[in-house]
Amino acid sequence: MQNYGYQAALAAAQKVSWKVEDLIGGDKRLDFTRPFLPESLAWVEPLDFLTPREKLVLNQIRGHGYLYLFGLVEEFILPFVLDHARPQLAGDDYRVRALLQFAGEEAKHIQLFKLFREDFLAGFGSDCEVIGPPAAIAEAILAKDPLSVALVIAHIEWMTQRHYLDSVRGDERLDPQFKSLLKHHWMEEAQHAKLDTLMVQALADGRTPEQLLRAVDGYLEIGALLDAGLEQQLRFDLAAFERATGRKLDAREEAEFTRVQQRANRWTFLGSGMTHPSFVATLEDLGPAVRDKVEQVAPAFC
Ligand SMILES: [Fe+2]
Ligand SMILES: [Fe+2]
Repeated sequence: MQNYGYQAALAAAQKVSWKVEDLIGGDKRLDFTRPFLPESLAWVEPLDFLTPREKLVLNQIRGHGYLYLFGLVEEFILPFVLDHARPQLAGDDYRVRALLQFAGEEAKHIQLFKLFREDFLAGFGSDCEVIGPPAAIAEAILAKDPLSVALVIAHIEWMTQRHYLDSVRGDERLDPQFKSLLKHHWMEEAQHAKLDTLMVQALADGRTPEQLLRAVDGYLEIGALLDAGLEQQLRFDLAAFERATGRKLDAREEAEFTRVQQRANRWTFLGSGMTHPSFVATLEDLGPAVRDKVEQVAPAFC
């Protein structure tokens, strides 16, 4: 069983201290001459029919999608953590403080992603449509079993660890502002991922193996809902690309664009979380059948 503690998570979180204003605003602006997302998430290079300039524009559109989609998922993480904390406000003081610190940081991240997105829209020069509204998506997700939602949140927060450690760190070509956002987000998400593990353990406590498998079905249903959202976002991204570059892709190019970018989106938001070793360890703690179930579907998203 993975062994994290509320007191240690709170102490680690308190050592990390940054303000939204340190990262964006004033002379801190996105640099549109540089890529925003690392290639391991953007996957623009396989599209060899695009010019270097068009690949850069597509990378930035994917960066915009990343800002928006993270803002969107954090809108259901925040109320979920508050609801999880509220019934035990009179319990373990470290538990209450660690969860409220977590919620406060997510409120900060929502604002951070929002301000970055405003800066993007001010500088990009043409429209980028987005899925939503976030409140409707949050409502659909929060209607599921809390254990299913807690698993999705753990998946998302381990995923942000992987995005920074495996791909962003060390990539010198990226826009420094966007890179700083990914770095600072990663710093705080490290404690969230541990608290998620504790939330999963608390919500799984006392359930039968069958009930745990049903909760995993709920996790996979939320994954399917997010996958459908990503598919729609991909259509918006293609339209934004054609608008920004003035280039209309022919049928063969459009099919290839869709195939590659669907894999890129699935890896970025689904596969990289589903297969994160710490998330897999959380599934294993719930039982080998739970782990097997997720491992069987994961290859479709990698
Ligand atoms: Fe966050
Ligand atoms: Fe988080």
